[in-house]
Amino acid sequence: MAPQRGCFVTLEGLDGAGKSTHVEGLVNHLRGRGLDVVCTREPGGTELGETLRHIVLTQTMQLETETLLMFASRCEHLRTVIEPALAAGKWVVCDRFTDATYAYQGGGRQLGTHKVEALEAWLHPDLQPDRTWLFDVPLDVARERLSRSRELDRFEQEGADFFERTRAAYHERARQQPERFRILDSSRAIEHVRAELFSQAEELEHAWRKGRLEGTA
Ligand code: TMP
Repeated sequence: MAPQRGCFVTLEGLDGAGKSTHVEGLVNHLRGRGLDVVCTREPGGTELGETLRHIVLTQTMQLETETLLMFASRCEHLRTVIEPALAAGKWVVCDRFTDATYAYQGGGRQLGTHKVEALEAWLHPDLQPDRTWLFDVPLDVARERLSRSRELDRFEQEGADFFERTRAAYHERARQQPERFRILDSSRAIEHVRAELFSQAEELEHAWRKGRLEGTA
């Protein structure tokens, strides 16, 4: 008998929202509960994807090129990492996925949703994350946190308007798909955010163990 399909979870948010801090914690928590977890990220997650990540974070390019490179990285990642892992019954924790393209290219860079929808419909028409956590912070908090971080990449150097549009696009995605999204107020202390994240992850795990997830892969 084929194993039960795994569970696909994604973490999203503005640069400076504190998302990456929680990825590792979530993965360790899930592994501690006995789950077989693949931890990965976008853009990236494969050798080619990491090369594309470097290009897209460092080089100036047309918006169309940027969007296509995000999906090129995603296609490799889906076919060679995410889909096989889910088919083998593993959990996949992914730091950003297609919602980031809706938010950053669609919203921040004002490409709009239609082109992103077309690429999504081509490359993963039947796959959505089972759960997406949106780490949400007001813009000033995100920017203050970013200002304390290492050298900024091409996206992180964008202005306030860009991030306002990106945040609004994330909220719009969450509004459209409330069953999939959970918004975490990430301006709180890390421990509070982590406690809420872990408790929601355990609810998801219970549903998964009972075979109650929709299972679209
Ligand atoms: P990270 O720093 O969270 O790993 O993300 C790298 C940057 O890539 C981040 O600024 C958001 C951006 N990005 C997009 O613009 N579109 C996408 O589809 C993805 C996955 C990331």
